[in-house]
Amino acid sequence: MSEGDFEGYGGRHVPEPLEEPLEQLANAYDEIKDTDAFQAELDKLLRDYAGRPTSLYHAEGLSERYGAEIYFKREDLLHGGAHKINNALGQALLAKQAGKSRLIAETGAGQHGTATAMVGALLDLDTEIYMGEKDVERQQMNVFRMRLMGAEVNEVTRGGAGLSDAVDAALEDFAKNIDDTHYLVGSVVGPDPFPRMVRDFQAVIGEEAREQFRERTGELPDAAVACVGGGSNAMGLFHAFRNDDEVAFYGAEGGGEGAGSKRHAAPLAEGEDDVIHGMKTRVIHDDTEVHSVSAGLDYPGVGPEHAMFREVGRCDYRAVDDESAKAAFRELSEEEGIIPALESSHAVALAKEIADDHDTILVNLSGRGDKDMEQAAALFDLA
Ligand SMILES: Cc1ncc(COP(=O)(O)O)c(C=O)c1O
Repeated sequence: MSEGDFEGYGGRHVPEPLEEPLEQLANAYDEIKDTDAFQAELDKLLRDYAGRPTSLYHAEGLSERYGAEIYFKREDLLHGGAHKINNALGQALLAKQAGKSRLIAETGAGQHGTATAMVGALLDLDTEIYMGEKDVERQQMNVFRMRLMGAEVNEVTRGGAGLSDAVDAALEDFAKNIDDTHYLVGSVVGPDPFPRMVRDFQAVIGEEAREQFRERTGELPDAAVACVGGGSNAMGLFHAFRNDDEVAFYGAEGGGEGAGSKRHAAPLAEGEDDVIHGMKTRVIHDDTEVHSVSAGLDYPGVGPEHAMFREVGRCDYRAVDDESAKAAFRELSEEEGIIPALESSHAVALAKEIADDHDTILVNLSGRGDKDMEQAAALFDLA
């Protein structure tokens, strides 16, 4: 299996002008990633700027209710409110070292755009974000945050005006401006080297959680659960456990309107093999049908390493519908005093679903729900 090839998934399916810059990026990444200087700078920023390590929290109320010991890896406590900063810091440092002066990124829920705007401000790089019109509307607070930190936010109106269209727009920009621009891809998606690079930058989640869990309980968890949009927080959690066969993996996709509905965002549970955004993976074909209550899961493709995990049976991917995610959002708020992101609420809902089958469950709480309060106020009549 060559770099960037996940047993036939992944690869670099791009137009000719993008081949050379991607090769350069892959080489730069391979050269720089393990150097002491790069690791020291990244570790320092992850600790002092982002707030690592994040805690491992035993949710006693929820555990008692569902009859399994449920633990949360608290990525919601990071600067910016989500795991996205782990990857944004890594790639921005790499871009700086490679002599780039400009960052571009796509964003759905706005968390990756916010993380990119943060690192752009921090490292003094011009920053431009592409965001679908429909997401600009439902995640306005994050649009304001990005602008405040000096990023330009470009509203994308083509296609379904969502995350997939924002990726298309960012790829076009990248192809035109390869000399000075780094495309800071926000998940384990796209052409090589992005899926493996983003995974490596997010792997700190599972590395910390594995140590913390063992220290706390003397064992590894029976199951590890995460939500899957592009799949970066899930792969970040799973990577450290990949050879621990006793740890079952579960991925919660955006099941949208639920069983029988064609409107969902679950390419692993229900999609087909195809090429999208430069990678071979699992895809939902009709773009206009992609739907999830959470903007961050609303994507027709998924990271190729997840497609491989599905193929070989390493991870059980399930579609979690909007209603179950909303119920988990409310339940975690009321029971534990933790307001999760709507994306992360899908993982919480799946943890509830599998609680009868496992004694200990580690859930990645990928982000906090502050960005979702307007939606929550309307849903739960809080005004
Ligand atoms: C809090 C949170 N969790 C999860 C995701 C989904 O992304 P990924 O699957 O790459 O972790 C997003 C995307 O915006 C997010 O904001």
